[in-house]
Amino acid sequence: MLLFISIYIIYTLADNYILDNRASFFLEQKIDLRDSFHLPLWLDVMYVHVFVACLATLSGAVNFSRGLAWHKRKFHRINGYVYAVSVLLVSLTSGYLAPYATGGKLVSVPFNLVNLFWPIMIIIAIVHARKGRLDKHQNWMIRSYLFCFTNMFIHLISIVLFKAGMDYTQSYTIGVYGSIVVNVTIAEIIIRYLRSNSLTS
Ligand code: HEM
Repeated sequence: MLLFISIYIIYTLADNYILDNRASFFLEQKIDLRDSFHLPLWLDVMYVHVFVACLATLSGAVNFSRGLAWHKRKFHRINGYVYAVSVLLVSLTSGYLAPYATGGKLVSVPFNLVNLFWPIMIIIAIVHARKGRLDKHQNWMIRSYLFCFTNMFIHLISIVLFKAGMDYTQSYTIGVYGSIVVNVTIAEIIIRYLRSNSLTS
């Protein structure tokens, strides 16, 4: 799992900072952009967004190590706060990017809902940890962590639809809604699997 996540992070950083550092294909697809759209600022915010998103993905993955959680509690706690702050920064930068989202309001609304609920999930997880309810803490962290793969699922879904002949804006819109459904579904499958495993062992 860590290997897959490391490859995903390296690919994301290379793609957005080196290979396509001006997001040219992505921006070409934007039609009817608001007048306030300012490309240099959008790109700067996007660079910060990608960096903190990768930091959240990495710090989150590391904290799922049970060994670290039990034996290096201080590290787990500090790294957990690195994850929480990174998620907050992803949501803040996304708050700037969302009004210019490909697909307009239909896409900016679900993005902004995630911006709101993602940090709330982490607050719930932290409260459970502080009250010693570790199962619930883990479940909420699993739910929140799946949102680190939002961008990956958006592009996986939209590229399939686009290649199948659908217009880019429509495929991206379905990708955004689809990614939220996929995130929540995978998280619940993992939680149920872990629960049934702990009942049988
Ligand atoms: C944690 C993993 C994430 C990564 C690696 C990531 C990466 C990116 C990248 C590279 C872009 C530029 C466009 C593209 O190529 O897709 C982008 C755009 C954007 N991201 Fe994220 N993102 C992540 C999570 C999120 C989450 C959880 C949200 C929450 C709402 C979000 C909201 C946005 C928005 C609103 C845009 C602009 C979309 C548009 O212009 O159409 N991202 N993201």
